[in-house]
Amino acid sequence: MDRRKFFLLTYGCQMNKLDSELIASRMIQGGFEETDREEEARILLLNTCSIRESAEDRVWGRIGAMKARKMKDPGVVIGILGCMAQEHQQFLRAKMPHIDVVCGTREFGRIDELVKESMETRKGVVATGEGGNGDLVHREVGQRPMRAQAFVNIIRGCNMPCTYCIVPATRGPEVSRPVDAIREEVERLVADGVTEITLLGQTVNAYGHDLERGTDLALLLRELHQLPALRRISFVTSHPSFLTPRLMEAMAALPRVSRYFHLPAQSGSSKVLKAMKRGYTRERYLARIRDLKSLIPDMEFACDFIAGFPGETEEDHRQSLSLIEEVGFSQSFVFKYSPRKGTVSADFLTDDIPEDVKARRNQELLQVQEQVSLAKNKAQVGEVREILVEGPSKRRKDRYTGRTARNRLVHFANEDPSLVGRYVPVEIIEAQAHCLIGELREETRTLQAGEDEWLGMRNREGMGR
Ligand code: 5AD
Ligand code: SF4
Repeated sequence: MDRRKFFLLTYGCQMNKLDSELIASRMIQGGFEETDREEEARILLLNTCSIRESAEDRVWGRIGAMKARKMKDPGVVIGILGCMAQEHQQFLRAKMPHIDVVCGTREFGRIDELVKESMETRKGVVATGEGGNGDLVHREVGQRPMRAQAFVNIIRGCNMPCTYCIVPATRGPEVSRPVDAIREEVERLVADGVTEITLLGQTVNAYGHDLERGTDLALLLRELHQLPALRRISFVTSHPSFLTPRLMEAMAALPRVSRYFHLPAQSGSSKVLKAMKRGYTRERYLARIRDLKSLIPDMEFACDFIAGFPGETEEDHRQSLSLIEEVGFSQSFVFKYSPRKGTVSADFLTDDIPEDVKARRNQELLQVQEQVSLAKNKAQVGEVREILVEGPSKRRKDRYTGRTARNRLVHFANEDPSLVGRYVPVEIIEAQAHCLIGELREETRTLQAGEDEWLGMRNREGMGR
């Protein structure tokens, strides 16, 4: 067994997955080698998530299971990284002696050094300060999992006061990356074959407020839109409070910016929104949606909801249900409220909604969303859509999967692996709530808003598909 092989397991959101790419980059730059076989690795790293108790429970289970490996083989190095390392550093050090490295959310820029230190000293190493964030890592662009798609971090941390949320505690205050650093990274990704990027941040549309005056997401989008090879540009996750007229105008003016917009409301009740300290009412949320729809009529929206926030009545819950119908979200992510120690809602409000009521409300939100999604998907049948092919379908060998410009999942019959990473037209022949079934089409195609400009550009520059 090679002392330098590491195995990295990732839990949680897209930000964590991207952080893991950077962690792997840094480890490789430090002379380590990645393996996807846990049993052959001598270094086991877990990049963790604290957003809800259920997420943490999964990780605790895994940490417990690693104890047996350490007992058999004391030379193995075990590292806990990310949100749970930040949040539970004392507990991990005091109660989990089989953990060698505790590396917080702003320290993985030197993860290789921490691992080396622990190997040399055979002592526990803890780093949970503000040492080195992702910008200390020169990203190995080839490290990403998908050839044509990449995520790019633009702002870390969160300054918002949402009363239920642990993120500001685990990830610290907002820090935006300079425009030049982002552009340089995107250019390298594009040179390596990327045509679709997703800009990431916990409050992605707060980007730039800590940088030079005038720097914001609108400006960054305009910059990146100048790269002709980029066919799709999206960004997550936005906060309704920072959906400025400037940003909306930029989105409308830039056709290759995604027409699928994830704008979490969390609740449809102004009373609950106030208790959550979200900073807007139902009416203001709806007004923002209307503003954007008036600029971009075919814009699609997606949402997050929390079911069973403390004090949520049946009437409040009905208002969340009706928000789904009123906006007509194409997708909603629904979570049962989970009290997180140290947050305002956990410390000052009683978690008063019984588990079965939370579960029912959760189900009802999903059901209403399913009906809305199904109706919207059915309207697509007969249309030809362009999809970016992602790879073979997980369930059926004779099918491949791709996504439309509005982030809809499409399965289609195909056995040609060379289509992966390419944009192909498919005719939608069947609709389900969570996906579409399509058939590959070679010639005729219906263009969606924005694609015509790109096609014009492609013809001018002679770029092949
Ligand atoms: N309980 C349940 N859901 C939560 N989220 C954030 N904190 C909590 C919590 N304590 C949800 C929000 C957020 C998404 C990423 O997770 O909906 O948008
Ligand atoms: Fe959490 Fe609110 Fe920040 Fe989102 S905006 S990460 S929900 S505190």
